[in-house]
Amino acid sequence: MLRPSFTALLTVILSTGVANAWFRLPCTLPMVQERIDPIVNPNQSPSQHVHTVHGGNNFYANTTYDSLRKSSCTNCLVRQDLSNYWFPKLYFHDRAKNTFEPVPDGGLLIYYQNRGTNDVANGGKGLKAFPKGFRMISGNPAARTKLYARGEGSQAELRERAIEWACLGPKNTYSFDLSPKQGFPTTNCQYGLNARIHMPACWDGVNLDSADHRSHVAHLSGLDNGACPSTHPVGLIRLFYEVTWRIDGFASRWKESDGWPFVYATGDATGHSWHGDFFNGWDVDVLQRAIDTCNSTPDQLAGIVDACPLFNIASQADAGKCKKSSSVPENVETTLTKLPGCNPLQYGPGDATIYSESNCPK
Ligand SMILES: *[C@@H]1O[C@H](CO)[C@@H](O)[C@H](O)[C@H]1NC(C)=O
Repeated sequence: MLRPSFTALLTVILSTGVANAWFRLPCTLPMVQERIDPIVNPNQSPSQHVHTVHGGNNFYANTTYDSLRKSSCTNCLVRQDLSNYWFPKLYFHDRAKNTFEPVPDGGLLIYYQNRGTNDVANGGKGLKAFPKGFRMISGNPAARTKLYARGEGSQAELRERAIEWACLGPKNTYSFDLSPKQGFPTTNCQYGLNARIHMPACWDGVNLDSADHRSHVAHLSGLDNGACPSTHPVGLIRLFYEVTWRIDGFASRWKESDGWPFVYATGDATGHSWHGDFFNGWDVDVLQRAIDTCNSTPDQLAGIVDACPLFNIASQADAGKCKKSSSVPENVETTLTKLPGCNPLQYGPGDATIYSESNCPK
């Protein structure tokens, strides 16, 4: 069965117990999947690799905060949020035929969390909404291994730890692969591969973006809790992405002895290139008021998005109608003989070369 299950995604519960998770923003099946990236490749079409995109439908290479605010809809459930959230698309690599088949995902679930010593619940002065024009990425498309000892705590190590996987099993059990070299798992996941991204939650308070799209922000010292570094003192509401890739639909097509057959659109068979992008499109006043007044108590129901009366919530059916056609004249959602763009499989462990189509090796 390749039909993605959105409800299955919603039942996934964070492993951290009674953390003060704040609200979970569900997004339905992808708004568009295409080679466009207004953060890394602004004003350039096509971009380097294929993305799966959620959020406001004014998603273009030239997207700005003001243009995003003019989106006519979003496929995420809170209508005042016209942000975009995107990540590389996953493909099944049929080695015998050397073809790449798109792997469906079950939608995106975004946790908006009040975390860290800046949160008023922890005695801090309060968390900030993302300012107009703010954007950031987490993770590294060139990465093909982990370089730092897990838990070492530097920002470089936190960036590596910010991407992770859980293999979903029966009755919503899941297991993590926490080996020091954590990359993709090696086994089929009965209910899909839950791919996760921790976004940075500390800001320098000045720059809306930076040349590498990372250095204006930083991770909390404990990744999902702790303090902001003195260089990035402003605490932001913390984003955590969960995507479930329905790899289970391919279970009959491969054996563990053949090796893991799924690859990211970056040409990555290791998993280490997993990354997420965020382009703010919120009504900033609504988000700030929600941060200040809508904190739900840390109980089983914490995080139900409907609990915040400030939000104008769409039904899943209505949000699911929000789609945009691709700006790039290529079909990335069919069986392909190569990954779109110039993304030959690169296994590392050194960083991958990021090719453009004009310097693509033959
Ligand atoms: C942005 O790009 C889209 C699609 O290519 C185009 O229709 C639109 O006019 C552009 N907007 C601006 C402000 O250039």
